[in-house]
Amino acid sequence: MKYGRVYNFSAGPAIMPEPVLEEIAAEVLNYHGSGMSVMEMSHRSAVFQKIRDDAEADLRKLLNVPDNYRVLFIQGGGTLQFSMVPINLLSGGTACYIESGAWSHKAIPEAKRYGNVIVSASSADRNFSYVPDCSALTFPAGTDYVYVCENETIHGTTFWNLPDTHGVPLVSDQSSMFLSRPCDVSRYGLIFAGVQKNVGPAGMTIVIVRGDLVRDDLDPKVPLYLRYKTHADNDSMYNTPNCWSLYCCGKVFRYLLELGGLEEMERRNREKAAILYDFLDSSQFFRGTAEKADRSLMNVPFVTPSPAQDAEVVAAAKAAGLENLKGHKSVGGLRASIFNAMPKEGVEALVAFLDKYEKAHA
Ligand SMILES: Cc1ncc(COP(=O)(O)O)c(C=O)c1O
Repeated sequence: MKYGRVYNFSAGPAIMPEPVLEEIAAEVLNYHGSGMSVMEMSHRSAVFQKIRDDAEADLRKLLNVPDNYRVLFIQGGGTLQFSMVPINLLSGGTACYIESGAWSHKAIPEAKRYGNVIVSASSADRNFSYVPDCSALTFPAGTDYVYVCENETIHGTTFWNLPDTHGVPLVSDQSSMFLSRPCDVSRYGLIFAGVQKNVGPAGMTIVIVRGDLVRDDLDPKVPLYLRYKTHADNDSMYNTPNCWSLYCCGKVFRYLLELGGLEEMERRNREKAAILYDFLDSSQFFRGTAEKADRSLMNVPFVTPSPAQDAEVVAAAKAAGLENLKGHKSVGGLRASIFNAMPKEGVEALVAFLDKYEKAHA
């Protein structure tokens, strides 16, 4: 690794592509002859307007976003979307949630503040180690939306098949899988993703929302900032956006397009994940904790025979330049997040380390 960098397996804020960081470093003092950094630039300047517009155009190209969808850049993290979704889409009606892990579990009480919530399926019975079967789900007439967290960051599970919502808008939290594989945006009513996992610096959330769900009939008490319409009507510049994150994310969108787009990212991500899962499946010491059929390409939780040994492996890995492998505090164990920017060499280095560790300690 160049610059004394380590292989960073953090679940977010997370690794970014090194060529993008190099480009940002080269522009940090004087962006394209403007005489200033993007950090110092007015968001109303023509230079920044172009950065914003190019970022949206490149994201639309990457995801083939249909013209009738709005792309919004909002602050407040994925967490604010747990509230903004029901505030804008529910307001007194009914929403159906699939509870497949800690993040969908956390979104449910927020929705309950604004309307009736039905938990249509849950995998809480086995500590969210699988995605509940949604193939035969039905939703009551008048349901405003169906909600999924498409990749559960903590438990390492992903929806390989989306529920058939029978025409009800599908809302998806894609925070930890956004841009990791192709996605047919037209299947969704709304997608949101905090960018600090698979895209760029923390502090911005991307919302892609079908135009007819951008409503202007909300309760007058709803603050302007919490209405999708405010952001849509102002090209996400109603107030000062997170200029720095938007700029860095724009660089990542361009970089992904140059690499070959999301088909190529999926090919790379499958290849990387297979290296790690194949090792875990053959190991007598380490064990992956997610159900095989529902395994994530992005977040790989695994355990040793004991919590004490989990901690020893995390410490030894850190000493070997493999950082942030501790599992989330709610589940323990280890977790390797292998987002788009993690090179194949990083996963190979991790597997070589784990293999050596097993031979020495098992
Ligand atoms: C799937 C998912 N949704 C939502 C969140 C919350 O995001 P934020 O910290 O940006 O509010 C996270 C954070 O890790 C996440 O993994």
